[in-house]
Amino acid sequence: MSSVLTDLFPHPIVQAPMAGGVSVPQLAAAVSDAGGLGFLAAGYKTADGMYQEIKQLRGLTSRPFGVNLFLPQPETADPAAVDVYAHQLAGEASWYETELGDPESCGDDGYDAKLAVLLDNPVPVVSFHFGVPAREVIDSLHRVGTLAFVTATTAEEARAVERVGADVVIAQGVEAGGHQGTHRDVPETDGSGIGLLSLVAQVRESVGIPIVAAGGIMRGGQIAAVCAAGASAAQLGTAFVAAHESGAHALHKQALTNPLFARTELTRAFTGRPARALVNRFLREHGPYAPAAYPEVHHLTAPLRKAAAKAGDAQGLALWAGQGHRMARELPAGQLVEVLAAELAAARTALSAGGAR
Ligand SMILES: Cc1cc2nc3c(=O)[nH]c(=O)nc-3n(C[C@H](O)[C@H](O)[C@H](O)COP(=O)(O)O)c2cc1C
Repeated sequence: MSSVLTDLFPHPIVQAPMAGGVSVPQLAAAVSDAGGLGFLAAGYKTADGMYQEIKQLRGLTSRPFGVNLFLPQPETADPAAVDVYAHQLAGEASWYETELGDPESCGDDGYDAKLAVLLDNPVPVVSFHFGVPAREVIDSLHRVGTLAFVTATTAEEARAVERVGADVVIAQGVEAGGHQGTHRDVPETDGSGIGLLSLVAQVRESVGIPIVAAGGIMRGGQIAAVCAAGASAAQLGTAFVAAHESGAHALHKQALTNPLFARTELTRAFTGRPARALVNRFLREHGPYAPAAYPEVHHLTAPLRKAAAKAGDAQGLALWAGQGHRMARELPAGQLVEVLAAELAAARTALSAGGAR
């Protein structure tokens, strides 16, 4: 592992930030205490909500951790397309006996306010999703002793991440659960995402900064594989959704290994930006015509998802999951880190024994 990272956490295992209440402080603390890197997700929270979680996490662990921010999105959404989608979702609203949300609420996710909090109360790592922060932002984080990680889904995006002075690039393969962190949402490229092993190799030949590999990783052997391909560590989301401390809805946890949810798909149905979820009724019905309008569609569908959760209806939830979901293990997060680390060590021993033959 790169020394920038080994100084922070001994096992090359990063718990992905997971917005929507999944990566709660208890989860991040358990991962960091076990020698991985725990993360909080600031997406969809207020700046104060983020600050309260940081305070709570600091009370739970003295180990390093990270906080993840969503970059504000350019105003590309066609309001007429959002109106049409709202019309198409009217039946859902009456079925769940709720109203659709306001698509215009909080478009920039409080980015500047959150950055200000993180500069006043520095944390060890800040990561960015959905774009590249300005160089001044990275410089100001460095001045307060914070490392900057930025997601990339292509080698070209990884070069942009290195150019702004980020410390680490998170190479996110198309297998990944949740939102693809593509820098620009280009609908014409839908479905053309790059698989993780291929992406890591391409990024390794494109940039000099350390790589954290994300997407479909559920076992230590896969961590060994991405590290052999050039990554310094792996970032796992879906594997930690199932952990005891995760704040995911019980239906979400159960769905990961329920044979009723046989596969995942990238969809705009819930938020307007491509994100990988288990295929359920909502995704099947609305995915085909959901517009490219993030975060408008997120705000529009939020009350529907809340009502589905209240009704105990997994068919109306956004069941974010990567392609490895069936391999999820319901363990305490610290134990999951230990099991992954043991599998990684065994895979490395097997690899070097194979090399010696
Ligand atoms: C439930 C869920 C929520 C996620 N939310 C975020 C987020 O808030 N910020 C972020 O950078 N990535 C988010 N991701 C993506 C992860 O960072 C990571 O790329 C992904 O989980 C890796 O694939 P895997 O789920 O197959 O391990 C989320 C993933 C999941 C499964």
